[in-house]
Amino acid sequence: MINIEILVGSTLGSTEYVAEATQPYLESAGFTTNMHFTPDLTKLDIETQQIWLICLATHGAGDYPDNFKPYIEQIKQLNTKLDNVYFGLVGIGDSNYDTYCHAAKNVNDLLLESGATKIGDTFYIDVVNSPIPEDKVEEWIPSWIEDLKKRVN
Ligand SMILES: Cc1cc2nc3c(=O)[nH]c(=O)nc-3n(C[C@H](O)[C@H](O)[C@H](O)COP(=O)(O)O)c2cc1C
Repeated sequence: MINIEILVGSTLGSTEYVAEATQPYLESAGFTTNMHFTPDLTKLDIETQQIWLICLATHGAGDYPDNFKPYIEQIKQLNTKLDNVYFGLVGIGDSNYDTYCHAAKNVNDLLLESGATKIGDTFYIDVVNSPIPEDKVEEWIPSWIEDLKKRVN
């Protein structure tokens, strides 16, 4: 059984709902899931195949949510490559900010530089036209699951 680690970066909670909305789709497709509301690299075994689905809001001036900052620091301080890591990415933000979804864009670059492999394209949810962000998940998760199945076993 392939497990998916769902890593959540959220301040006000809406991204937690987005993350939870992905679970039934992943589980009906035969995956198990672990939800991480306080992502911690020491709890993820990067010596073995990892599939991370990152659901990440942007706060501050394009900054990471506080609960996500320790994980980012852990990645930056790693001495090994994330060769075993496959990741998907959902960015939640507000397009009124000129730093729209910058946290998602930055984690994407960081993980790619660290040697991780991207599955599918980043899915962006703009709260300006999606007041209930988790309702957007159904538009994207089926195709992400198809991309995932092609890349991992
Ligand atoms: C203080 C504050 C700062 C924000 N800064 C940004 C930003 O720089 N870029 C962006 O795209 N969205 C920004 N947002 C919008 C949030 O990303 C959006 O409200 C999102 O739904 C919050 O997710 P959460 O409820 O999981 O924390 C900001 C929101 C707040 C309240």
